[in-house]
Amino acid sequence: MRIAMIGTGYVGLVSGACFAEFGWTVTCVDVDQEKIRRLRAGEIPIHEPGLEALVASGQRSGRLHFDGDLASAVAAADAVFIAVGTPSRRGDGHADLRYVEAAAAEIARAISGYTVVITKSTVPVGTGRRVEAIMREVRPDGEFDVVSNPEFLREGSAIEDFMRPDRVLIGAETARAQAVMRALYRPLFLLETPSVVTTLETAELAKYAANAFLATKITFINEVADLCEKVGADVQDVARAMGLDGRIGRTFLHAGPGYGGSCFPKDTLALVRTAQEYDSPARVIETVVQVNDTRKGSMAARVRRACGGSVRGKTIGVLGVAFKPNTDDVREAPSLCLVPALQDAGATVRAYDPAAMREAAPLLPDVEWCHDAYDAATGCDAVVLLTEWNEFRALDFARLATLMRAPTLVDLRNVYRPEQVRASGFRYESVGRA
Ligand SMILES: NC(=O)c1ccc[n+]([C@@H]2O[C@H](COP(=O)([O-])OP(=O)(O)OC[C@H]3O[C@@H](n4cnc5c(N)ncnc54)[C@H](O)[C@@H]3O)[C@@H](O)[C@H]2O)c1
Repeated sequence: MRIAMIGTGYVGLVSGACFAEFGWTVTCVDVDQEKIRRLRAGEIPIHEPGLEALVASGQRSGRLHFDGDLASAVAAADAVFIAVGTPSRRGDGHADLRYVEAAAAEIARAISGYTVVITKSTVPVGTGRRVEAIMREVRPDGEFDVVSNPEFLREGSAIEDFMRPDRVLIGAETARAQAVMRALYRPLFLLETPSVVTTLETAELAKYAANAFLATKITFINEVADLCEKVGADVQDVARAMGLDGRIGRTFLHAGPGYGGSCFPKDTLALVRTAQEYDSPARVIETVVQVNDTRKGSMAARVRRACGGSVRGKTIGVLGVAFKPNTDDVREAPSLCLVPALQDAGATVRAYDPAAMREAAPLLPDVEWCHDAYDAATGCDAVVLLTEWNEFRALDFARLATLMRAPTLVDLRNVYRPEQVRASGFRYESVGRA
């Protein structure tokens, strides 16, 4: 089986490298020629644990290739994955399908022999049919099927998620396409990974519904956290008590600064737009989007409060700018709201992130970038723990106190126990704990 992976970003590169590990011959294609050049030279353009070794092993085996030329990769392929970006369209929040549509037309021109064309990108209901129509227009004679195969991997644990997914979701409507999909994922089915085989529309909607549900869980516990602060309860214990109920589950019940990332914000918004387009109210998700936006915008006020009401003329250290640990991705990260808000309020911001500073620097001007947590805390009136990287989980508070102008920690991820931090002489604020 030969695979062409169109789009070599977080999803395309991980999926391509994993399929090569399964034993397939994979060519990853991208319009970004610089990315292809770097990959060919063995340089990994993103931070993802384990990816460098996996890509190197794929290249050594002769099964993983990188190419800027879509046509030759597609012509040789039995299966073509579309893994290009589907960001929010500026202005209206619909998913921007221009990259998917451009890829579909290019793929149609290049296919040779029966080819299964698979959208791995997260795309609104109806996109698979649209890809089919674009391809049919370009190649009325083309022998192909269009399949939806949404990806559920998480940045930071992407390889493990791809190799051991909870399920493989396949929207494929012909027996021939289903057989190709079963073959592609056979190594996972040998491990008894469940599969859900559906129509195109069902697969497309299921992906959005899953992301919207997870975003709802996060937003739910965030509102409960606010209530905890007012009534003197502890959200960590509330979440644990809730999550031990098997019907609820423990994950995604961690209160914090609001969800960010390259998926939840754009996918919840796109689902709201789809629901509006079909005149099918999605008020829960609409509310989740609004509540989360407000929450991200309100974090600066917490820092102001911790600093005695104002940050004007003060220096604030920010630990973590990636939207979550173990990635360099800063798309829609809470840091992109918090840092400018602190600066607008008159603060100087020093920041450190183990992987995301290169990505964040162009988006966060006037930040003093530092080389570790202690450097970031130096001379600060408060430090904000914004991304729960492991290296921020065992800070030396005695050392921090000697470096800071005033020992204040705003822990927006509830990494620490209040009594532990306060015992070190710190003023300590966290989320959902009185
Ligand atoms: N990042 C995640 O954690 C994640 C998880 C599940 C699903 N998804 C979905 O997967 C899709 C891709 O996300 P990503 O984070 O990998 O995006 P990304 O921005 O990291 O990568 C997309 C890549 O596609 C390339 N590209 C665009 N048009 C192209 C074309 N015509 N031909 C070849 N390459 C082209 C871009 O240059 C870029 O390198 C999105 O729809 C996203 O919603 C992402």
